[in-house]
Amino acid sequence: MEDFFPNKPLVVVSNREPYIHNRVNGQIQAMRPAGGAANAVDSVVRACGGIWFAHGSGDADREVVDKNDCVQVPEENPEYTLKRIWLTQEEVKGYYYGFANKALWPLCHLAYAKPSFEEKEWRIYQKVNRKFADAIIKYLDGRDAFVWIQDYHFALLPRYLREANPNLSIAQFWHIPWPSPEQFRICPKGEEILQGLLGNDLMGFHIVYHCNNFIHTVNSVLESRVDWEKNTMIFQGKETLVRAFPISVDFEAISGDTDKEDVVNLSKEMKKEYRLDCPNIVFGVDRIDYSKGIPERLMAIDRFLESHPAFKEKVIFVVAGAPSRMKLAIYRNVNREIDRLVEEVNQKHKTKNWCPVIFIRRTLTRTEILAFYRLANVCIVSPLHDGMNIVAKEYVSAKNDLNGVLILSKFTGVAREYKRALQINPFDVDQFANSIKVALEMDEKEKHSRMRELRKITRSNNVYHWALSIMQQLVTL
Ligand code: G6P
Repeated sequence: MEDFFPNKPLVVVSNREPYIHNRVNGQIQAMRPAGGAANAVDSVVRACGGIWFAHGSGDADREVVDKNDCVQVPEENPEYTLKRIWLTQEEVKGYYYGFANKALWPLCHLAYAKPSFEEKEWRIYQKVNRKFADAIIKYLDGRDAFVWIQDYHFALLPRYLREANPNLSIAQFWHIPWPSPEQFRICPKGEEILQGLLGNDLMGFHIVYHCNNFIHTVNSVLESRVDWEKNTMIFQGKETLVRAFPISVDFEAISGDTDKEDVVNLSKEMKKEYRLDCPNIVFGVDRIDYSKGIPERLMAIDRFLESHPAFKEKVIFVVAGAPSRMKLAIYRNVNREIDRLVEEVNQKHKTKNWCPVIFIRRTLTRTEILAFYRLANVCIVSPLHDGMNIVAKEYVSAKNDLNGVLILSKFTGVAREYKRALQINPFDVDQFANSIKVALEMDEKEKHSRMRELRKITRSNNVYHWALSIMQQLVTL
């Protein structure tokens, strides 16, 4: 993959850094973030090298960088440079918690949370996008480069970069859904956001549906021209190609690591620690976000146990959630709702020797997640809306023995590829509850045939295939 950028450096930009240095019990530790996006891109940059600009958010981040605010990562075997951009508390509040996560995140996810648009937060969002642009332009010092921007934190960055250096090749990948023109219409800064994004040469989404939403949105807001043959948009003489690239995982790495001794041993330990001596383990792991459908999952578990009490003591539901964006009230509320539901379901259904739900509120390590995938004969992925969802693809990659059933929300991007997962509508509690029963009762032949097919799809469309397609497209523009 390193041959892809023979003459030009690769510059990656994201808000969340792929390695976060924090002090834990006095020791500096490099942590991996909970979201899937940074981890997926990390596998790629490790393979092809380059420099990655991200917000330095760890409490020990400043202690490990050099005089240019750079650190080589991963620590044990450095493969690329991480350049940290420092943000003030006010900037983080206005740009990250504010415009990115109070306005754009709910605007793009159909999860019935109302976006809030504040002029002050918008100004800070502009300022932070400008700050990243200045740092990249300064680093490049007139050189040409491939700049690969991640996500909704940087809608204005492509235009700022383009204005500073028209020769840059710029691609952006939008990791979350793009809403319909009707939904997008409420955004008071819609025009500026679209003009910003049309500074890109290439604009990528997970699925064609989001591409079409984007093109229709641009068409209804800006004086632009669409070339439907080529799927490009022309705005003020600049052409932007819009294409779908479904993100994926490193299938071989996950599949191989799941059978390694440390994972096998840990799964045995966890079985004891969490008292998982039960014929069925149903697992789910998410960032705790209102878009992930965790309360809906707990309500379906309740309905399932209510309707099928014969399953009591025969199944344990492990619900793992990584705390996320807790400074926002809506995230604290969803955490409270989850606590209430876990308590309610457990009180209602528990027996002397058994408690149906184990809720783990922390960021699990990769080894722990793989160990849970090993143990789980069912995995539930139940977002109300999700761009792709990487947990679904990880679980499939880990099920080397084919002994697993994936229950999957049809409102995830991955549902388009995973036709043979057990698809659910998380808003339909009865159908969801019934799917749990179907999953637990599925015969081996059916289970294996479904899992075999899902694995085949993921093996060939892995994360390298995703990145390679984006890069191939970018170099030919
Ligand atoms: C989603 C977004 C990513 C984000 C991740 C984790 O996957 O698309 O950009 O990094 O969530 O969220 P956080 O706010 O913790 O970075």
